[in-house]
Amino acid sequence: MSNTVLIVGNGGREHALLKAVLRSGRDITAYAYPGSCGMERDGCVSVKSDIKNWNDLASWATSHNVELAIIGPELPLTEGIVDIFADAGIPSFGPSKLAAQLEGSKHFSKEIMKKYGIPTASYETVTDRASAEAYLAKVGAPIVIKVSGLAGGKGAIVCETQADIDAAIEEIYGKGSFGEAANQVVIEEMMYGEEASVFVVSDGEGYKILPVAQDHKRIFDNDKGPNTGGMGAYAPAPVVTTEILTTIEREIVKPTLSAMVTEGIPFKGLLFVGIMLTEKGPRVVEYNCRFGDPETESVLPMVECDWFELFRCTAIGGVENVSWNVRTGFTSTVILASAGYPATSSKGQVITGVDEANALENVDVYHAGTVLNASGELVTNGGRVLAVTAYGNTLSDSINRAYLAVSHISFEGMQYRKDIGKKGLARVN
Ligand code: AMP
Ligand code: GLY
Repeated sequence: MSNTVLIVGNGGREHALLKAVLRSGRDITAYAYPGSCGMERDGCVSVKSDIKNWNDLASWATSHNVELAIIGPELPLTEGIVDIFADAGIPSFGPSKLAAQLEGSKHFSKEIMKKYGIPTASYETVTDRASAEAYLAKVGAPIVIKVSGLAGGKGAIVCETQADIDAAIEEIYGKGSFGEAANQVVIEEMMYGEEASVFVVSDGEGYKILPVAQDHKRIFDNDKGPNTGGMGAYAPAPVVTTEILTTIEREIVKPTLSAMVTEGIPFKGLLFVGIMLTEKGPRVVEYNCRFGDPETESVLPMVECDWFELFRCTAIGGVENVSWNVRTGFTSTVILASAGYPATSSKGQVITGVDEANALENVDVYHAGTVLNASGELVTNGGRVLAVTAYGNTLSDSINRAYLAVSHISFEGMQYRKDIGKKGLARVN
């Protein structure tokens, strides 16, 4: 008998989630909403019905015998999709609406960290311009100003100087660029250090920590240029030694999960802890309530397990009993972005070489922004277009293999970073 899943989302992350579930060693029937052309190429069926809200999708899922919903992005989670599916009797991989506040409200997450002594930057929450200005006049630069609500990854403004502070205030309160997300604003101490992405799969109490990854946020090599959704990743990141990971588990992961249990809103699903490795030890930069993109494309291929069972166990319990094997090597992921990204993006450029790249051993090409045009050609359809992941026995093998795969692919205006994994290489060699 086959197991039926519904994946919500359409990015590289969701394509990687699909491929992981297809590696479960089960007969899987997969649906996706809205799904992508890359997911369809792997046999996943996109939901084409008229879906107006998550209740509609839950009805659709019920009528198609969906046994497990896997929710990729944060927005449906903060809107309560998991609660709606639970009411329809369908277990989901993802936190409840209340637990998703760990990402949906920075004020909420900082309160949890303060109350339970979880190491993070000190902060103050303000609710209007006058109190923001008064507090900022007291503390001055450097400082980080964050709108509390979801802001598509753009809600944290790192202010090195007073001019940066003035610009941030103008953006938030003058132009009102963040809308309601800025009803509460968190002003926090600047931290310094390397960052890492820690992914924890949890059923609320039991958990497993996935190999730690590092993202590459800036568009250009050597972390230059504007921030993006993420231009590449690798795992495991050597900067997080076994000893540091033990500290992160003891001081951050366990206390966070038990805090949520104490608050009566256990966190089920994927807890993404953004860590800064400061001189004083690991500190939380942020929590996310879902897998990171592109880290997921690096992290999932590092683990061999029955992903269907693992994801289902986050909803029904027993995560710690699912057997898994972490591979001994490394993975690296290079994002291929379209011209103009991140300020703009181009669409409709014909992409060649994806099948050749994907056919290489230990390589997976995930589709992030592609579509088939009227002639059936694969074309670009957004900022981040493809995520190319390769596994290798060493970090340099995985990096070289990823770039070898990239060399097969081309489209007009294609841009990518040439230094993915460089920080990691400096530590292992
Ligand atoms: P966030 O939206 O909270 O994930 O922040 C986005 C990015 O801003 C992080 O990945 C960091 O690079 C930076 N950042 C956020 N908070 C701080 C902080 N307190 N100190 C230094 N950098 C920060
Ligand atoms: N790559 C960071 C994120 O998904 O938020």
